[in-house]
Amino acid sequence: MPADVPYRDPDLPVNERVEDLLSRMTLPEKVGQMLQLDARGDVKEIVSEKLAGSILHTSPAKMLEAIDLVAKTRLQIPLLTAEDCIHGHSFWPGATIFPTQLAMAATWDPALIERVARVTALEVAATGIHQTFSPVLCITRDLRWGRTDETFGEDPFLIGELGAAMVRGYQGGGLSDPTGILATAKHFAGYSETQGGRDASEADISRRKLRSWFLPPFERVAREGCEVFMLGYQSMDGVPITANKWLLNDVLKGEWGFAGTLVTDWDNVGRMVWEQRVCADYAEAAALAVKAGNDLVMTTPGFFEGAQEAIDRGLLAEEDIDGAVRRLLRLKFSMGLFENPRAPDPARQQMIGSEAHQELNLETARRALVLLRNSGALPLDPESAFKRIAIIGPNADDVSAQLGDWAGNSGQVDWMPDGHPREMTETVLDGFRAVAPQRWDITHSRGADIERLVADPEGETFPDGQPRPPISQGAPVDEHLIALARAEAIRADYAIVVVGDTVNLTGEHKSTATLELQGGQIALLDAIAATKTPMIVVLMNSKPCVLPPSVLDAAAVIQAFNPGMRGGRAIAELILGLIEPTGRMPLSVPRHVGQQPVYYNQIRGQHGTRYADLTQDPLFVFGEGLSYSPVTYSDLSVSVDGDLVKASVTLRNEGTRPSFETIQVYVSDLVTSVTWAVRELKAYKQVTVPVGESITVDLELPASACTLVTADGRRVVEPGDFELQVGPSSRDRDLLKAGFRL
Ligand code: NOJ
Repeated sequence: MPADVPYRDPDLPVNERVEDLLSRMTLPEKVGQMLQLDARGDVKEIVSEKLAGSILHTSPAKMLEAIDLVAKTRLQIPLLTAEDCIHGHSFWPGATIFPTQLAMAATWDPALIERVARVTALEVAATGIHQTFSPVLCITRDLRWGRTDETFGEDPFLIGELGAAMVRGYQGGGLSDPTGILATAKHFAGYSETQGGRDASEADISRRKLRSWFLPPFERVAREGCEVFMLGYQSMDGVPITANKWLLNDVLKGEWGFAGTLVTDWDNVGRMVWEQRVCADYAEAAALAVKAGNDLVMTTPGFFEGAQEAIDRGLLAEEDIDGAVRRLLRLKFSMGLFENPRAPDPARQQMIGSEAHQELNLETARRALVLLRNSGALPLDPESAFKRIAIIGPNADDVSAQLGDWAGNSGQVDWMPDGHPREMTETVLDGFRAVAPQRWDITHSRGADIERLVADPEGETFPDGQPRPPISQGAPVDEHLIALARAEAIRADYAIVVVGDTVNLTGEHKSTATLELQGGQIALLDAIAATKTPMIVVLMNSKPCVLPPSVLDAAAVIQAFNPGMRGGRAIAELILGLIEPTGRMPLSVPRHVGQQPVYYNQIRGQHGTRYADLTQDPLFVFGEGLSYSPVTYSDLSVSVDGDLVKASVTLRNEGTRPSFETIQVYVSDLVTSVTWAVRELKAYKQVTVPVGESITVDLELPASACTLVTADGRRVVEPGDFELQVGPSSRDRDLLKAGFRL
């Protein structure tokens, strides 16, 4: 290809380059640009035959092969390479694996999350990957859903703030920054409103409900410059998301003015044929998807032939394809890929997993731990002469449970059968050995197994070729393991019991019907509780579980979720009082699976407040989390000043240690034209309250944030009386209240 063709000239405006290149492309080349194909298979077929413009799940070796193959294509259009780097560079051996998104959300700290995303971008960009499928902006609704761990929890405002921070971190200096990666906000929109927690089911969701809760985080990141949205899997009101012209064209592109790129989820176009059965063949499906505004078609190889056939049959015009290809080429030109295809850079790769990155990982893990219960047993006193600590439980020394889904050998790729290098992860056992006083005795026993894996009788793969995960069956109670653990607990001063779930109970296709701790874990907890040795329970799980009485009565309970490579050390530090507990729950936790949904922003109006057999009160609520020193809130005052609602509140630290508080500001609209949430988070502030001191903190939020969505779908502020509710959690009794009028 001569260098003098206009599209190769970096001095020309992007639009001119796009039009020049488009005019040179054949129809197969255009359709190929719309494909984002799975590079775990035959890369030659993908790049040289299907002419794919983008690839995902590319091993380090295949990345180099793909780049060589592109150089041999007629127009040499650079590939857009993508990966699910959702809490670190998931599938690069030795990369920094941070806490999962749910765990990170417990920090409530956008600045910290922006730094995490920046470091992730540096590591990812050095390996030749340009796009990450992150952040996830789905709202957790039903905890049975297997992908709860990938979310920032249940609150649209918090999700929007943390998602926006992640986008800033990933994209760095913008599209043309070679140290940045393209953020992809997903899954647009409503995917998490599952039925019974079942993954990708029809979502029972009205347009008003979408506008009320599911769309705001996406609108927030679109304003932040997020250029790519990935669609969900679900259908709504009979319309597969891939074909939802109202959402994609009228709302996203029309109302919000989104000029970015849309990528389907995995084989969404094919699913309309073989799964949802709204199209007879791939030509129909391709036409429907393109007309609804999809640009990049993920892992539907049949789109290549289908789209061309659709044009032959008159179902689609070539101009429709041109629209999508224009957007994709504009993205590639804006990223500067024609000048610098951002190939893997071995020199820059030296920084992957560096000490500085692991230090940030530790800082994040420390901030993410939520202390849920403490009878006063914590913190332990590292000054005491001798203590024996029994570290017990199936997740006390388990790398995979600690890293969670989308990391190494969690099942999505085949080039890391042994996961990340073992020495990069500090389990709870490792953490205690590293930070407890040398003179203390640290013992370890597993105590229970969580599961037995059995092959799914329906076969090894799904119809789309994705591997069908094995079935996780609860492991039988192992009396021998329990006896060993019990003996250790009896001899010890404290028993630290680390329980939870596994990656086989987490993720796509892995929703759970129950929320109970599986296998021998409850029997183990009962046995340790019966020893009367103070028991500290650490919940290392992808999502909250229902807790048995032995845990509810334990000396302390720490919610760790999947805390990443340094999580075990952070847990040990917290228990030993070397750090303060700062995490706050990003979602509410039921007492029983049947209480769901328990998210805090429930719509007002129902008969009574409880079930006949059980309270409706969640066990732990959104925003909840303890410090080692209790802090009291008083003297809330509120005023309206122009467009701002201003407030102040006094916090007093009654204890002996500094407390890092997350002051939460909720708004309740007292009389509304439609039924609306009992309260909604509208602002928050994080402050340290020094020992023995009172501090007065100023808070504010824009009056324009006090909105609701009307019956006809408009987001408005309805003038009238409101209440500002300020406190350390979303629980009614934790909140100070003061009225204001707009
Ligand atoms: C399907 C998942 O739903 C999506 O979140 C992910 O990014 C893609 N697969 C690619 O792995």
